[in-house]
Amino acid sequence: MTRLGHLAVRFAGSVRARPLDRADLAFVRHHLRPEELACWDRLGPADRAESLATARATLGALGPDADPAWVAAALLHDVGKAETRLGSLGRARATLVAGLAGHGRARAWPNAVGRYVNHDELGAQRLRQAGARAEAVVWAAAHHRRSRWPGTGIPPEICEILAAADGEPFPV
Ligand SMILES: [Fe+2]
Ligand SMILES: [Fe+2]
Repeated sequence: MTRLGHLAVRFAGSVRARPLDRADLAFVRHHLRPEELACWDRLGPADRAESLATARATLGALGPDADPAWVAAALLHDVGKAETRLGSLGRARATLVAGLAGHGRARAWPNAVGRYVNHDELGAQRLRQAGARAEAVVWAAAHHRRSRWPGTGIPPEICEILAAADGEPFPV
């Protein structure tokens, strides 16, 4: 899918996002520790839905004997988006603007676009401060930057599964 196509699908999904049902929330509570759930709870409906879809896809790929830490990492990878304070339209615009300017530059901007591009670092900081599992912290920081995967200590095949389950392009 093209970058614009991916953006359009993501935007449509965020507009359509419904609150999760009881079974979904039970799944999240089952896989997260209380300090991690406190981070996850800050997400809006669209981000919660994306989190759950990513975790279910990760579990589907790894099977029922998956290390619970990878499911937690999937659920928590985008918690930094709670810090961005942008709606669907603002995010679509931020993605386009950052793509034109270059993500490395946009990441340093002291504005909403910069916060959105930097959601990986913001999420990792919040998770670290909360006392989340190390796997969730390092994956949140690295999930859009393949060059950082070797430094996470997460097996490469797990990184591939987590990234494929997420389905976001590189970099956001
Ligand atoms: Fe992300
Ligand atoms: Fe994501």
